[in-house]
Amino acid sequence: MFQARLPHSGLLVRPLDARDVDGLATSLFSDPEVAKTLVHDVSTVERQRRCAEGWWKYGGIDSPDSNWSTLNIGTWAILDDSAGDGAPRLVGTRGFGLDSGLPEGAIETYVAIARPYWGRRISGDSSRLLTNYLFSQTEADGVYTNIWPLLNPRSEAVQRRLGFTHWGRTPVGTSHSKARMAYIRDFELWRADRIAQPDGKDVLNEVAIKLGQLAAEGMHGEREAIEMLEARLSPALRHDDAMAQTIRQGVADGFRNPGWKTYRLTRDDWSRQVLSD
Ligand SMILES: CC(C)(COP(=O)(O)OP(=O)(O)OC[C@H]1O[C@@H](n2cnc3c(N)ncnc32)[C@H](O)[C@@H]1OP(=O)(O)O)[C@@H](O)C(=O)NCCC(=O)NCCS
Repeated sequence: MFQARLPHSGLLVRPLDARDVDGLATSLFSDPEVAKTLVHDVSTVERQRRCAEGWWKYGGIDSPDSNWSTLNIGTWAILDDSAGDGAPRLVGTRGFGLDSGLPEGAIETYVAIARPYWGRRISGDSSRLLTNYLFSQTEADGVYTNIWPLLNPRSEAVQRRLGFTHWGRTPVGTSHSKARMAYIRDFELWRADRIAQPDGKDVLNEVAIKLGQLAAEGMHGEREAIEMLEARLSPALRHDDAMAQTIRQGVADGFRNPGWKTYRLTRDDWSRQVLSD
């Protein structure tokens, strides 16, 4: 089975398998800064483990009925084996799958990298490597990626650098059930619970934007989003004018920017890139 090294970081990429479940839970889902864009509630160790098992079931090469058997592509592990101890550590993952919110025949890709490894071109390099694999090994006519508007400028920078173009907005509710959207909300409220000081304003802003985005899709009202958030803050923070303003502004910004910002690379775009390389 295909495996390769990424050009800038030298990390190893191979299909994800059952050995990687622990790494998914402990390197990726346990860090709220990584997990906050991944549409799960991973606020407890048990949930982190359950999500890791779910990702393996959905995309592991040794999981029965995973995307590998239906789409000929699934999820990949990105491993650091530089310690040379024969025990590579999972430091990232990139997956490919279907998304009911995207056109028929479209493949979605998603990625998560452990925080100490950010900024080493791992996302971009793994996308390029595995998009080549996708288009050479499957019939897919385009690869798409969904990004939370206002909340993930890093990820947008990566897509643009790779030649993806903005395709449009996709409601989160066309990709995910109401139950899954409630998990997203629960996780955001858990993030708000942990804000102890006024310097948590950036987190509060992100949470407020996300709740505003969910309000625009009918998960709750705008007013309700503000009240839910205020209720999560300690009385001292709740009565801090700057915090109250952050909540109101964030919810309003999110409400005006709903749905995924969806980027696309077509097979034709890819062929042109390969020819010009
Ligand atoms: C988003 C993520 C995948 C990026 O991974 P990475 O390996 O650090 O990405 P790369 O090193 O390939 O590229 C990072 C790019 O972001 C840019 N960047 C970094 N911080 C930025 C910011 N605040 N605003 C805009 N761009 C930023 C860098 O300049 C770089 O672009 P460049 O190479 O054109 O200069 C990683 O941060 C992550 O795992 N985040 C959590 C999970 C996630 O958000 N997944 C994507 C879901 S859509």
